[in-house]
Amino acid sequence: MPIPFLASLYFDGYPPWLPDPYLLLKYSTAAATITLTKWYTGGRTNTAERNMHGRVVLVTGGTSGIGAVTAYELARRGAQVVLLTRLPPTDAFLVEYVDDLRARTGNNMIYAEQVDLADLYSVRQFATRWIDNAPPRRLDMIVLCAATMVPPGGKRVETAEGVEVTWMVNYLANFHLLGILSPAIRAQPFDRDVRIVIPTCSSYIASPKLDAEVESKDWTPQWAYSRSKLALMVFARAYQKHLDSYKRPDQLPMTARVVLVDPGLARTPGMRRWLSRGSLLGLLLYLIFYVFAWLFLKSPEMAAQSLLYAVMEGSLVSVPGGRLIKECMQMDCARKDVDDEEVAKKLWESSDKLIERVEKQQAVKRAKAKKEQEKREEEAKKAAQVEEIESLVGAITRSKAKSAKVTAKGSNEAPKKNGKKGKSAGNNAKYNASHCHPVFFTNKLRRPPFTILPGPESSPVVHGYVYQEGLRGVDKSAGPRL
Ligand SMILES: NC(=O)c1ccc[n+]([C@@H]2O[C@H](COP(=O)([O-])OP(=O)(O)OC[C@H]3O[C@@H](n4cnc5c(N)ncnc54)[C@H](OP(=O)(O)O)[C@@H]3O)[C@@H](O)[C@H]2O)c1
Repeated sequence: MPIPFLASLYFDGYPPWLPDPYLLLKYSTAAATITLTKWYTGGRTNTAERNMHGRVVLVTGGTSGIGAVTAYELARRGAQVVLLTRLPPTDAFLVEYVDDLRARTGNNMIYAEQVDLADLYSVRQFATRWIDNAPPRRLDMIVLCAATMVPPGGKRVETAEGVEVTWMVNYLANFHLLGILSPAIRAQPFDRDVRIVIPTCSSYIASPKLDAEVESKDWTPQWAYSRSKLALMVFARAYQKHLDSYKRPDQLPMTARVVLVDPGLARTPGMRRWLSRGSLLGLLLYLIFYVFAWLFLKSPEMAAQSLLYAVMEGSLVSVPGGRLIKECMQMDCARKDVDDEEVAKKLWESSDKLIERVEKQQAVKRAKAKKEQEKREEEAKKAAQVEEIESLVGAITRSKAKSAKVTAKGSNEAPKKNGKKGKSAGNNAKYNASHCHPVFFTNKLRRPPFTILPGPESSPVVHGYVYQEGLRGVDKSAGPRL
């Protein structure tokens, strides 16, 4: 097909149905440039593979961007993935996310544990729970993808514990987590290929020196981000030395490896927030100019390739740890202070001190809060008891009043039954209940009138009050005897 076409071009000249050759050249050059740019910015694809079946992997930042792709790829290969998220595992979004990941990967061994990296106490709680397990839990890999960036122009933000948030999430939380998990890493068998994968960013090159004193008015989000990444790299190399210096009981060398990874610039939620400056207008501009983001930034899938290389490349076990991986290749660091032992020592010590100070402060606060809570609970308990007693007393008083009312009502109704409606009912106020004892003072047994007048009508016998025995004596002047 191309040969006849070229022959016709040669013999018959430029065909009229083709567009202007100048335009054709222009458009094809543009298309080629875009394709080449996209190909170049897309980065390299990982070709390393490793059997991940049954390996236990802790992943931070596994719910978004590069971390989410890495978690998916690891789960797809059969790894047991534990997502360390700031949300509790009962959160509806997280439950759905984990269910979806399980369904997409066909792997049910995906779990979530709450670890808020902006909270040292939360990190400690998780890590101590992990190392408290006896026998030591299997741990093959830790992938530390979580990071935060204050959008450009944003103000300095502190965590609830009073640490600057970028420093805390990007560096200090990782320092704290790996510090506590160190015994769990060292306890792994010699033949287990343990890796600690730490993403960094090329912005570390522009970071000020770690020991440089910077006034808070000089603080910028870019400065904070690049400094946190530089600190992470210095710590990563120092941590590898810390692991290497451990003398195993079996006298075998340490096989755990720390690997630094620069994934390159990618269109992740974090990057979107950064580019849009966290504003709606910025988001609108991002969408309008999305074509540039598409052209110059990697997809999260492509950005995760270097991480997957760091996770799976077999040759990384046989080289010293602390290597930097970029575009699925080992690279040298662009800054000397990454390997400076003095800088690393100072950073380690100052981080330890900061954590100790903050944790002490927080422990005192928690103890105080706990005491207050206990006091509140005690008071609430007492109030509940008082209320219960009062309600009991009230119930007794009410029932007494009710029974008294019923008795009074019963007494009032008694004369009515005897048919002496008018007078008795009218004299209620003067009526004395003791005169009307139900047994001894019924109306039938009423005493006779006090004075009995002479005459047959007034005789007590006639009235039926006296049983007449007949005449009892000769003295007739004496009245009838009672
Ligand atoms: N994207 C890039 O262009 C680029 C370039 C160079 C290096 N990197 C590095 O690559 C890694 C991944 O970047 P990304 O852009 O994919 O990140 P991202 O999309 O911004 O995601 C950040 C992740 O960190 C988690 N996270 C943030 N704060 C947390 C906290 N306090 N506690 C627990 N988790 C927290 C987030 O959880 P939620 O989902 O709960 O918010 C989220 O899963 C980062 O280390 C980043 O520095 C990225």
